[in-house]
Amino acid sequence: MGDSAIVTGGAGFIGSHVADALLADGDAVTVVDDLSTGRAERVPDGAELRQLDIVDAAALQRVFDELAPDVVYHLAAQASVVASVEDPGRDCDVNVRGTLNVLEAAGRHGAPVVFTSTGGALYGDAAPMPTPEDRIPAPLSPYGASKWAAEAYVRTWALSSGIAHAVCRLGNVYGPRQSPHGEAGVVAIFTGQIAEGRAPTLYGQGKPTRDYIHVADVVSALKATRGKPGVFNIATGRQTDVITIWRTLTRVAGVQIEPKLADLRPGELQHSCLDISRAERELGWRPQIEIEHGLELTYRALMQEIEQQA
Ligand SMILES: NC(=O)c1ccc[n+]([C@@H]2O[C@H](COP(=O)([O-])OP(=O)(O)OC[C@H]3O[C@@H](n4cnc5c(N)ncnc54)[C@H](O)[C@@H]3O)[C@@H](O)[C@H]2O)c1
Repeated sequence: MGDSAIVTGGAGFIGSHVADALLADGDAVTVVDDLSTGRAERVPDGAELRQLDIVDAAALQRVFDELAPDVVYHLAAQASVVASVEDPGRDCDVNVRGTLNVLEAAGRHGAPVVFTSTGGALYGDAAPMPTPEDRIPAPLSPYGASKWAAEAYVRTWALSSGIAHAVCRLGNVYGPRQSPHGEAGVVAIFTGQIAEGRAPTLYGQGKPTRDYIHVADVVSALKATRGKPGVFNIATGRQTDVITIWRTLTRVAGVQIEPKLADLRPGELQHSCLDISRAERELGWRPQIEIEHGLELTYRALMQEIEQQA
């Protein structure tokens, strides 16, 4: 008999892959999600969906008390930078208050929480590359600020309760099931544009770099972090510029579409790359999927999804 695991945000892109992996391990998986950006079809067969808003502390506590989880993977979030600028209050409610509610509900059962924070939106432009975890964050958006605030609760609650809550600061995650309609997630957005034969606009003349990590590597990291209190960058430690992403995807697709180039938009980072040596050392974890191969796998999977939805 496996563990009882709760995955908040399990109807979303990354959370649905976490739910898949836990089911494969034999765990009993319950997804808590309000379906604001997630979709019920993404919740894998075998996992149960409880549709609720994590801001509703009483409803959340009822579900946790019923399930008495052994572990909680907390991915539910207001995860859009643009939405956080438009409505920082809601962003704070979901990402800070919602995380506090998850910690309180999990704490009643002694369950460790693995919290997904952001590596990309936290450190700011002046940070050294690759950026280590001890760099003091300087977020440029309400989203980065709310994730940082939530991290503080995770660490404080770990210290005060003795429960091994952990923080994973993720790089730019890509993979199957990512929405091509989001504001971030260039791999999915570009795949959608290739499907429609449209040219993308590459800001910063296509030169900004990000630390792209395949979702399967994120899932293995989150599992490795269970019960390891601390803050871990989860990425690859490698930078790839956005024009290289476009060129690789169009090569895999066998098409030639010239992108439009434009200047960087205000608030956008030029470079982001995370130092992952702490996760390698303390978790014994390493990313396994090279970017070229990961892009190819993802392009094929996303194209299949687009064709199925057409
Ligand atoms: N995708 C990335 O590159 C990336 C990078 C860094 C961090 N993260 C973090 O990883 C987590 C998962 O991100 P994702 O890319 O899968 O996003 P996503 O939007 O696909 O998933 C988020 C899920 O949370 C749910 N949700 C949102 N608000 C909720 C609420 N109030 N109550 C209950 N459920 C709610 C949504 O319906 C959705 O299913 C988030 O915490 C995000 O901040 C993602």
